[in-house]
Amino acid sequence: MKAHAMKHYLQFSDLSATEYAYLFERAALIKKKFKTYERHQPLVDRTLAMIFEKASTRTRVSFEAGMYQLGGSVVHLTTGDSQLGRAEPIEDSAKVISRMVDLVMIRTFEQTKIECFAQHSRVPVINGLTNEFHPCQILADIFTYIEHRGSIEGKTVAWVGDGNNMANTWLQASEILGFKVHLSTPSGYEVDQSIAGIRSADSYQVFDDPMQACVGADLVTTDVWTSMGYEAENEARKTAFANWCVDPEMMGVAKSDALFMHCLPAHRGEEVAAEVIDGAQSVVWDEAENRLHAQKALMEYLLLGRIG
Ligand code: CP
Ligand code: NVA
Repeated sequence: MKAHAMKHYLQFSDLSATEYAYLFERAALIKKKFKTYERHQPLVDRTLAMIFEKASTRTRVSFEAGMYQLGGSVVHLTTGDSQLGRAEPIEDSAKVISRMVDLVMIRTFEQTKIECFAQHSRVPVINGLTNEFHPCQILADIFTYIEHRGSIEGKTVAWVGDGNNMANTWLQASEILGFKVHLSTPSGYEVDQSIAGIRSADSYQVFDDPMQACVGADLVTTDVWTSMGYEAENEARKTAFANWCVDPEMMGVAKSDALFMHCLPAHRGEEVAAEVIDGAQSVVWDEAENRLHAQKALMEYLLLGRIG
């Protein structure tokens, strides 16, 4: 029997500021051990099922390598090679899979699908990206910010681009961790506060001009113009997003020590100029690596609760 209540991680708002403070500390410790080849295996005999209904490089490698490093093992399922792609009800899949493993990570389309799975799961479920949210990425991004600059509380994050799953999750995080988001999206691609799932508009400010959103920012961040699942809109988006490319001029109006982040994969010359993503202010490789350490802390927490 588990000594702590079961928790899912379906949205950033599923954890509190206190829990995030713990996870960031724990991720730092787990990272230090990883770097010094010190074994850290609290999840021996535990199994993670990873379900991918969309493509992935970072999420797959970080969860799979992470679970093995923690002493556990992994089962990898995709829509194409399981009954998930042949219309087995989500409820049934959740009941079956969660009787055989200890933890489930899902990358899918609608948030309602992962919520349905979680409702019928006996074990914790982690959101590895949905159309609406990408909480594991923002967990790693904020851990990365803290490593480079200290607390994110009171800081300003400029979001330049699509009002997508990443933007929604940044907004949720700003309410919980007490920072501000400057949002600039092309017309028609705005963040919907109700989808973002935030209570008030206090933690963000909307700018028509992406350059204005970057003025005085501590962190400038963006993402692809076309997210997975929206490929049919690609050409229309290329036209609409033409001015939403993070270039050296935009970085130039942010604070002089501002960081640049991108969850990757990136398209140089579209949402970001090569000089920016490959430049001195960019921390995108740390961000990608930190998916591993942050998610190891998350998996440990969901399965074992607070340690120490
Ligand atoms: N950033 C991110 O989630 O990358 P993948 O799509 O490669 O998993
Ligand atoms: N917003 C992007 C993020 C990819 C990691 C997508 O959903 O495709």
